[in-house]
Amino acid sequence: MKIVVTGAAGFLGRRLIQALLAREQLTDDAGQVQRIEQITAFDVVPLEGINDSRLLVQTGDIADAAQVEKLIQPDTASVFHLAAIVSGQAEQDFELGMRINFDATRALLERIRALGTGARFVMTSSVAVFGGALPTTVDDQQVWAPQSSYGTEKALADLLLADYSRRGFVDGRSLRMPTIVVRPGKPNRAASSFASGIIREPVNGVSAICPVAPETVLWLMSPDRAIENLVRGHELSKAQLSRGRVLNMPGLSITVGAMIDALRRVAGAEVAQRIAYERDPAIERIVNSWPGNFSAAYARELEFTFDEDFDSVIKAFVASNRLSEMSY
Ligand SMILES: NC(=O)c1ccc[n+]([C@@H]2O[C@H](COP(=O)([O-])OP(=O)(O)OC[C@H]3O[C@@H](n4cnc5c(N)ncnc54)[C@H](O)[C@@H]3O)[C@@H](O)[C@H]2O)c1
Repeated sequence: MKIVVTGAAGFLGRRLIQALLAREQLTDDAGQVQRIEQITAFDVVPLEGINDSRLLVQTGDIADAAQVEKLIQPDTASVFHLAAIVSGQAEQDFELGMRINFDATRALLERIRALGTGARFVMTSSVAVFGGALPTTVDDQQVWAPQSSYGTEKALADLLLADYSRRGFVDGRSLRMPTIVVRPGKPNRAASSFASGIIREPVNGVSAICPVAPETVLWLMSPDRAIENLVRGHELSKAQLSRGRVLNMPGLSITVGAMIDALRRVAGAEVAQRIAYERDPAIERIVNSWPGNFSAAYARELEFTFDEDFDSVIKAFVASNRLSEMSY
């Protein structure tokens, strides 16, 4: 079985590839478990540091039709499409966001349609497709009303995937991910970047700015659960997805203040004191337009996983942080 992962060098892409290599197998269209023979890791920057004979690293622009044609072949069984421009950057650069978050998704779906393979296509959407007047808990019937270009691009991609799947051009699954916390490394240009920063920086002995009020409610998922859910999204049969191809993922609803309380419990008061509130209206406008809680009933029925509490999310981050420090 040959698999393509786009956005392979990114936060989730790299982890997904490691998980797929360790797992060694996935289920095909006929419900048969197949060995993974090859994973093509595609990104605009090369995926480095994973050595495995099944891995083929390719670099290029996913919005370039010639690259897409080369990347998706008649024997590509499954695509995990994770390449994206994150929310803050997509808001600042409209053309870039539309090109990568929408045009490239369409090009990939079109390529599979042209090949006639009906390949499985798992992609990541976002809670940013919702906005406006929202109930405290958003259910699976909630009308989409994005308040940012990123949310609009993700909503457009969701609609395309649903229609291409309805017509049988692809076997699509779009997972609406909560904000994934704790992201290691440096801050990125997502409006939600602070949600990881207020944990990661203090744990690493660095001060952090929290740009939103402590009562801001966030919808979160840990990286481990996100990867498990991407695999789960792939493994479901078409019959199991009879109620739709776009799924709100389950998550953890928590206020920023409660996140900092959890950090104090897990890492100590001295660590939590490294956070200072400095409100940023541009970030608050985007983040406050996102729902803070979902029923995610459909995805829960399909046994997607979620984090039970935030203390465990921090503990998992601290443990993996120590491991990566030890490897240097
Ligand atoms: N991390 C989160 O909190 C979160 C939440 C909801 C949805 N998502 C979605 O999940 C997916 C993965 O997110 P992530 O956090 O790993 O993002 P990331 O920014 O770490 O990774 C995205 C990758 O896409 C690549 N990319 C950008 N432009 C490209 C191009 N023109 N051609 C090829 N590759 C290109 C980047 O180099 C990067 O490695 C994205 O679709 C994102 O929108 C993420």
